[in-house]
Amino acid sequence: MREQIVIANWKMNGSTEANRLWVEKFLALCGDLTCRTAVCAPFVYLPQMTALLKGSGIEVGAETVSTRAEGAFTGEVSATMLADIGVTLALVGHSERRTLWGEDDEAVALQAERLVATGIKPVVCVGETLEERQANQTEAVVLRQLRAVLERVPADKLGAVAYEPVWAIGTGKTASAEQAQEIHAYIRQVLAAKFGAAAQETAILYGGSCKPSNAAEIFAKEDVDGGLIGGAALKAEDFLGIGKGFAK
Ligand code: PGA
Repeated sequence: MREQIVIANWKMNGSTEANRLWVEKFLALCGDLTCRTAVCAPFVYLPQMTALLKGSGIEVGAETVSTRAEGAFTGEVSATMLADIGVTLALVGHSERRTLWGEDDEAVALQAERLVATGIKPVVCVGETLEERQANQTEAVVLRQLRAVLERVPADKLGAVAYEPVWAIGTGKTASAEQAQEIHAYIRQVLAAKFGAAAQETAILYGGSCKPSNAAEIFAKEDVDGGLIGGAALKAEDFLGIGKGFAK
């Protein structure tokens, strides 16, 4: 059976004290959680998070990574550095990185390749804007974004694919369970065309205004293997509530 995963994406939120309280609450309440769990936090808090979560089984991830290996790239953080401090997964291609920081498909593919070279699993984010959906381009956009990465990363090195319709991120508008399943099944097809049977093992996560009240319905769909959670992951109780949404 495919692994079920929920990943928190804290984005540019948190503080030393808030993170400590979040972990304290999460660890106190997560006893009966059955799915795999990870928290992606800003770079500066990653050492704190790996220390706080050591031995808990909860993984620590980065929210992005440099396309470069090392050298004169002021402000950048490399995959090697992330591996050095115990990070095991990292997001690449989040729509905020693509649109606000101009990271294109080639950059996302390079980031994924750098991560894989250090043993970190990339979680590749893909998804269409509202205009693209309305123009019936959803599949074409997802295919383009995914293909770039699949050219460089083998199936067994992929952490997950996260389908995040841009119009659903932080807007309170969630894709319906049917809309999510339709694109997840398409993503599975694309993976299968490239990797064959191994595609059945790749987790495909849904992201975009996921909350405890809607997660169970979306996660119940055949090709939805978990979620990438933004706003609702800032509260440990809500993130837990989402993780408990697996009825499969
Ligand atoms: P959201 O964000 O849950 O706040 O919509 C999801 C994401 O951006 O990964």
